[in-house]
Amino acid sequence: MSWKGLVLAGGTGSRLFPLTHQFNKHLLPVYDKPMIYYPLTTLMLAGITEFVIVSDPVSLPQFERFLGDGSQWGLSIEYAEQLKPGGIAEGLLVAEEKLRGAHIALILGDNIFYGSGLPAVLRKSLSESKGATVFCVDVADPSSFGVVELAPDLRPVRIVEKPKQFISRNAVVGLYLYPADVMGIAANLKPSARGELEITDVNRAYLEQDRLTVRPLGRGVAWLDGGTTDNLFNAAQYVKLIEERMGLKIGCPEEVAWRLGLITREQTESLVGRMPNSSYRAYLDGLLAGAQ
Ligand code: G1P
Repeated sequence: MSWKGLVLAGGTGSRLFPLTHQFNKHLLPVYDKPMIYYPLTTLMLAGITEFVIVSDPVSLPQFERFLGDGSQWGLSIEYAEQLKPGGIAEGLLVAEEKLRGAHIALILGDNIFYGSGLPAVLRKSLSESKGATVFCVDVADPSSFGVVELAPDLRPVRIVEKPKQFISRNAVVGLYLYPADVMGIAANLKPSARGELEITDVNRAYLEQDRLTVRPLGRGVAWLDGGTTDNLFNAAQYVKLIEERMGLKIGCPEEVAWRLGLITREQTESLVGRMPNSSYRAYLDGLLAGAQ
């Protein structure tokens, strides 16, 4: 099965105004690195090396300058333009040509995942994927998410976007696996009341076809996002706490690329050698020295 990662990095980031007045949300810092490093490395750890990044016409050239063609990390990165924010499912449609019939791992550019078991869960899900797969976690307040109700055998019963009445605490996270036929479903969606093509409507279509798998991520995986000022601040604190305590970085593409063998030691050294002095570079220098 050939998979491509689709990272959605558009939108106005209005909930983060004025931080996002001049800057794309996904380039803002989450502690010591830009937000987009986190979803990108989540998919790298799942084994994905080919990516399409979707963003708005102003931000897209910034992403291209910043991340290039991905070869520095052993990746291929292409870019697709979303003229105005039209919803997550529209992100699929604007990238259709670049995805070229591949299976799609769609991740929201502000979603941050952390947990040692996650790469294995994702790799297994990719290899076993039939139909669509979504992941859920328990949240205290499900009313601001897509929410899925599960039968005791974990079969999905209902999926609702931002339910006004409580149906379950299983929030659907911003990471979705789809076969190529998702494009046909996305193309037939009608905009919701907020004027967007909703990813929950895509997932409901798979549910109605009995082709939706829901995988609970369990308590061992932290799921955070940088979508509001409080969430962004909390995510930064979380990353800082774990990184300081463990002396390891979360969401560091150079480290992930090297550890996965996507780039050689020499390539990693040359990449790090071109970085200005910073704690980020010191970390990578330390890794390279320690592994000699
Ligand atoms: C979106 C989806 C929602 C999902 C959430 C995850 O919400 O519509 O189903 O649970 O992302 O972050 P939005 O950020 O558009 O409100």
